[in-house]
Amino acid sequence: MLILGIESSCDETGVALVDASGHDTPRLLGHALHSQIEMHQAYGGVVPELASRDHIRRVLPLTDEVLAQTGLSLSAVDAVAYTRGPGLAGALLVGSGVACAMGMALGKPVMGVHHLEGHLLSPFLSADPPRFPFVALLVSGGHTQLMRVDGVGRYELLGETIDDAAGEAFDKSAKLLGLGYPGGPALARLALEGNPMAYKFPRPLLHSGDLDFSFAGLKTAVLTQVKRLAHARPEGPATPQLAQALNVAQKADVAASVQAAIVDVLVKKSLSAIASTGLRRLVVAGGVGANALLREQLNAACQRQNVRVHYPELHLCTDNGAMIALAAGLRVQAGLLAPSGGAVAYRFDV
Ligand code: KG4
Ligand code: ZN
Repeated sequence: MLILGIESSCDETGVALVDASGHDTPRLLGHALHSQIEMHQAYGGVVPELASRDHIRRVLPLTDEVLAQTGLSLSAVDAVAYTRGPGLAGALLVGSGVACAMGMALGKPVMGVHHLEGHLLSPFLSADPPRFPFVALLVSGGHTQLMRVDGVGRYELLGETIDDAAGEAFDKSAKLLGLGYPGGPALARLALEGNPMAYKFPRPLLHSGDLDFSFAGLKTAVLTQVKRLAHARPEGPATPQLAQALNVAQKADVAASVQAAIVDVLVKKSLSAIASTGLRRLVVAGGVGANALLREQLNAACQRQNVRVHYPELHLCTDNGAMIALAAGLRVQAGLLAPSGGAVAYRFDV
């Protein structure tokens, strides 16, 4: 069962081929990715129209690249999977349009995959795949969720952000520091040179007793601190000039302190989820899962509590086609998607 996966929900075009034959964990046969980061950088964020047009340009050449890597032809593909959401509407339409066209031309089924399910299951492509059941911390640019995962398609939402996502907190703080786009990795790099204790940023909902998150207040706290350091009026607007008034050491201290606050909350809430479910395995997925401090602190905390932590391979933390093909493969293996019979749709019940 060879599944071609296409990801085009935001600013990466990803195509991959997995082998989901039998009941072994699907194997990644080949994958190719094009990041649009450089194209959007000049605008300080993703420009949806440019993103859609670039997906159109990239998706077929990337498909050819994957087929060349594997020595297979498109006719060998048994099913085509694509990200059906959430994401930018125009960008998603490119992936779904191409996948449906391929399916019709080949006479093969087409499967829409939930983007977050792709992230959630992506550690199954690592050298050390998890076993069910586990607690999952899903931390991306748009979502921050804790889930109990009992099997493929068996997801229980334990808690989630009531406002901004963790990735958004990284990105917005980075923007206030004039670090450009994408903010998360840039902020993490700068934080290496700063003092995480320099500023005590809020840790909202840390002791709320539930597993929800809130990161919107952090952005305001960072803005207030940046204004203070820039000697700007507290009630003044957030302008790019604010960050320019800060020296590198000041920016690094803000970056390190805000990263410490985000990571602290993510680690403590993950451990609360582990304690409340009684499970001994934690899976971390989504773009923020690439954050080195988060990994370091989760590893240390979980080791103390005898909990196993699993991550996707670093290059599969952010958006990619492999996780989409994998999620479709795991769904087929779990009997949740028929491998034949035309277009198949399903709901991701979270
Ligand atoms: O999962 P992802 O690629 O896209 C979404 O589905 O949203 O996640 C992107 C998010 C962005 O907010 C980005 O800044 C963040 O992940 N990110 C990081 C790091 N790498 C990516 N945040 C902190 N540290 C990183 N190393
Ligand atoms: Zn994503």
